[in-house]
Amino acid sequence: MPGSPFYRRRDPAARGGRSWSLAGMDYGLSGPRSQLVVKVVVAATLTALCMFILRQSSPPFPDNVFSTRQEGVHHVLVTGGAGYIGSHAAMLLLEKDNYRVTIVDNLSRGNLGAIQVLQTLFPEPGRLQFINADLGDAKAVDEIFAKYPFDSVMHFAAVAYVGESMAEPLRYYHNITSNTLLLLEAMARHHVTKLIYSSTCATYGEPKKMPITEDTEQVPINPYGKAKKMAEEIIKDYARNKQMSVMILRYFNVIGSDPQLRLGEAPRPELRVHGRISGACFDAARGFRNGLEIRGDDYQTQDGTCVRDYIHVSDLVEAHVIALNRAEMGKVGIYNVGTGKGLSVKEFVEACKAATKVNISVTILDRRPGDYAEVYSAPKKINDELGWKAKHVNLTETLEVAWKWQKKHPNGYANEPMISV
Ligand SMILES: NC(=O)c1ccc[n+]([C@@H]2O[C@H](COP(=O)([O-])OP(=O)(O)OC[C@H]3O[C@@H](n4cnc5c(N)ncnc54)[C@H](O)[C@@H]3O)[C@@H](O)[C@H]2O)c1
Repeated sequence: MPGSPFYRRRDPAARGGRSWSLAGMDYGLSGPRSQLVVKVVVAATLTALCMFILRQSSPPFPDNVFSTRQEGVHHVLVTGGAGYIGSHAAMLLLEKDNYRVTIVDNLSRGNLGAIQVLQTLFPEPGRLQFINADLGDAKAVDEIFAKYPFDSVMHFAAVAYVGESMAEPLRYYHNITSNTLLLLEAMARHHVTKLIYSSTCATYGEPKKMPITEDTEQVPINPYGKAKKMAEEIIKDYARNKQMSVMILRYFNVIGSDPQLRLGEAPRPELRVHGRISGACFDAARGFRNGLEIRGDDYQTQDGTCVRDYIHVSDLVEAHVIALNRAEMGKVGIYNVGTGKGLSVKEFVEACKAATKVNISVTILDRRPGDYAEVYSAPKKINDELGWKAKHVNLTETLEVAWKWQKKHPNGYANEPMISV
């Protein structure tokens, strides 16, 4: 390329006169044998020069850095990393220097905008790549594993609404159970042995005794919980005969936003109908909906509304990174991730009113099928064994931060600057 520092012009006259001009030095030739020697010397010199120039000019990482193992760098496949929890987890991994992250997501529910925020925060080569693929596509998943040498997998990708699972059970068994099976098969084929699995308190159903420990019997009462429990069983059965290090984390109700307001919770508008409570409260506070509908106030609880254990997303993803570091070969660790405290829906609404300073109106409706009265965790095992404890336990403060993110992003991630991913 003319003008390039690597461009060397050849002198045609010199070539015709059997001499090569290399960096201003002329080599006179006489006889076929010496011609050959000179050609070999020139070729070797040129090769050495090219290698030197390439070494000087190439970026610190080769283009295919994601396909290369690098000492001291742990490559994590984050499935569902465009979603609410997966994006926060990817961010926490990327904040630590020794992780490389590949996000695989089909964007069916997540946000490209969240990926774009992460790409902007971590633009350095070799930190983050995004692959738009469906985990139900076994061939695509296998190709991804064949190309990239992952050290571990954090499997977040899933459809995750209790009410929707009652209406569309097959979708849930397919997306959660069957896709986890495909993922495990790909991990087996490509010798990836570390898995952190996103499970849920919905696998316990409605136990008689609170709080829920990891030994509480799992009797899920909706397809979402059943599909997750089946996926857990598949993972446990597989890990029994194989050398795997697995952590199954059973989350309670996840709320909140990154305290620095870089990421938040932004379900697609069409999913709002299935509603998680914080999104519904914020929508009511913004006037996107006419107040709040509480589904059932005749449960056997303190004030008649459902009781849940609300865990902050930043605490939750911290538990993932700890689990990743503490996962042991040949073991399946199972941990509840919650605060250990139950709060009623009415208490949540009061906290939301305080955080948003909007007097949200409330209508009481019939119970929603598939809901359980009271669910809260005993987080003692994760506290004791992994040294993890929820830090963000003031609900109003958590909602104040999430509300700030919501006000900054009235259209979710829709207005994030478009960059190529
Ligand atoms: N949010 C909660 O309160 C909660 C509680 C317990 C467990 N969980 C679990 O945590 C995980 C993440 O939940 P979330 O709240 O971030 O949900 P989310 O909908 O925000 O994120 C899920 C992501 O998975 C992707 N996805 C879904 N199906 C896919 C497929 N077939 N191929 C590729 N990508 C696919 C979606 O596009 C989305 O980006 C889920 O496994 C969920 O069951 C969530």
